[in-house]
Amino acid sequence: MAVLAAQDYSKEDLERCRSLAEKLGLALVVARQEQELEEEEEHQGERGEGEMLAGGAAEAEPDGFKFTMLFDETGRLALGQPGSGFNPLVVDFCGGKTGYRSKHQQGKTEQVVKAAALPKRRAATAAADEPLGPPSPGDDDAKAPLPLLWDLTAGLGTDAFLLAQAGWRVEMFERSSVVAALVQDALDRARVGDDETARKAASRMSLTVADSTEVLATAVVGSSSSSSAPVARAAVGFSRPDVVYLDPMFPQQKKGKKKKSALVKKGMQMLQALLEEEDGAEGEKRQQGTEPGGRTPDGAGGGDVSGEGEAGAVEGQEEERRLFDIAMEFATRKVVVKRPVHGPSIVRHVQPSHAVVSKNGRFDVYVVPP
Ligand SMILES: C[S@@+](CC[C@H](N)C(=O)[O-])C[C@H]1O[C@@H](n2cnc3c(N)ncnc32)[C@H](O)[C@@H]1O
Repeated sequence: MAVLAAQDYSKEDLERCRSLAEKLGLALVVARQEQELEEEEEHQGERGEGEMLAGGAAEAEPDGFKFTMLFDETGRLALGQPGSGFNPLVVDFCGGKTGYRSKHQQGKTEQVVKAAALPKRRAATAAADEPLGPPSPGDDDAKAPLPLLWDLTAGLGTDAFLLAQAGWRVEMFERSSVVAALVQDALDRARVGDDETARKAASRMSLTVADSTEVLATAVVGSSSSSSAPVARAAVGFSRPDVVYLDPMFPQQKKGKKKKSALVKKGMQMLQALLEEEDGAEGEKRQQGTEPGGRTPDGAGGGDVSGEGEAGAVEGQEEERRLFDIAMEFATRKVVVKRPVHGPSIVRHVQPSHAVVSKNGRFDVYVVPP
């Protein structure tokens, strides 16, 4: 994996690439014209560590790198997968599929929003059967603080954004620093963009780059500002959430089925391939004895890149169970877990209270006892 800088980048853009490469610990590949390359060679040694030159080509040829990070012509951070036939992947909360979905969701139409919805605060006089619903974006101005949701497996942030757009404050956790960089770039753009809805939603979202099971295993968490639930453990940085959302696995690609062409599907495929690649690197480190523990991106068995087969699936299930246990420990109202429509629940020992089902997925809802 490398950060790729095109030959016509301005000094400023190049600096952006350099600092991204440094931040993510990646090589920086800079394409140069032959003449520039010769000049560079005269100054060899002045270059930063990890920086490489791919000279002579009209475009940098990131040979040997399965993935590249680059800034597209409008300055958005993108993930490229050379040779895959996929366009570079950009997370964009204002345009594209996510922008469309968020603009057209009327609060209740997205299944994930339905599944996370809390009972509306009832006036003392309200009928007991008053309909339940999600917090509404207009609640910003209401006296009660907006409810808080943790997304422990943020991925490209699509679900998190839809939830924030529907009125949640969302704390996202993502363990892949590359994926997190794409989401952070989208958040930064949305926060200063022209799209008011996206601006508001993005301002309610924050991102922690960490393995949620690790960071929360030692975290000290205070009570949520919107609930009177007792303190679970103490708080450094995080407030206890009303709802925890989990979407740890990727949809299984059915053998022989025509590849789905929707952008979001391609995005997910590229994300999955990247995480498998990262996981393979982790696996190698583990085999060399430098890294304890293990993880697979797909607890359903799709993430086996080490050839360990069953062991990988078991690890995946253990990981999902850890996520579920943490979610149940911290959530004060509900845990919502995304599953394949006909897939098993995330754990066997606790049955969901109910499920919200659509043709694309099932959201198992676990109501936390008061
Ligand atoms: C299927 S994707 C989530 C997609 C997301 N719901 C969306 O709307 O884009 C799963 C993501 O969870 C992340 N993940 C899995 N386990 C994690 C953990 N323990 N901590 C943090 N991130 C995790 C993976 O790196 C991956 O990006």
